[in-house]
Amino acid sequence: MTPSTTALLKPFGVALELDTGRMPEPRNHLVRRASDLRGYYADAAALERLIADGGDPVHYEVFEVPVPNQPGHLMYCISTLQPGVVGEECFFTKGHYHAVPGTAEVYLCLRGEGYLVMKTAEGAFAAERMTRGRMVYVPPHWAHRSVNTSPDEPLVSFCVYPAEAGHNYGDIAVEGFPKRVYRRDGRCVIE
Ligand code: F6R
Ligand code: ZN
Repeated sequence: MTPSTTALLKPFGVALELDTGRMPEPRNHLVRRASDLRGYYADAAALERLIADGGDPVHYEVFEVPVPNQPGHLMYCISTLQPGVVGEECFFTKGHYHAVPGTAEVYLCLRGEGYLVMKTAEGAFAAERMTRGRMVYVPPHWAHRSVNTSPDEPLVSFCVYPAEAGHNYGDIAVEGFPKRVYRRDGRCVIE
């Protein structure tokens, strides 16, 4: 089948800074600060202290040069999740299902350490370790959230997913994930 003229995208390349987790020339740059995570952490008072006394620090950034959100294309991004805790809970991304639920995603960890925590609407839970050089496969129908467990190093990941996937934040602000990740006495605890 011959692709239509609009479907014919010219090949292109994009520079990535693998250590800092940035794109020098992104078209989209998402920044989420502590205040954007209201409602998500177990210790809401600790989050308010971080916003008021800690200067509302950046939690994570996502850099993209988008492609058409049509089936057949692959979307990709590089992201940096800062280290830190809210109370004892490790910094995390909001987490989402895909709006097209039957779409998967690949996460490649480039730097740092943490987990990709995942859940299904039926109550299943999984936590896969993220360390440099480790890839995590998120199957269709699994909501996913990155968690940085390092005390001092950013968690940098590169993601690839079907361009039509979209984001569905759904019940996650209210329901969270079945387990949370804490750092206590220098150790990481999932409970
Ligand atoms: C895309 C994807 C990532 C996240 C990003 C921010 O499907 O999984 O690009 O969107 O890590 O996380 P959220 O969107 O949960 O704030
Ligand atoms: Zn996703």
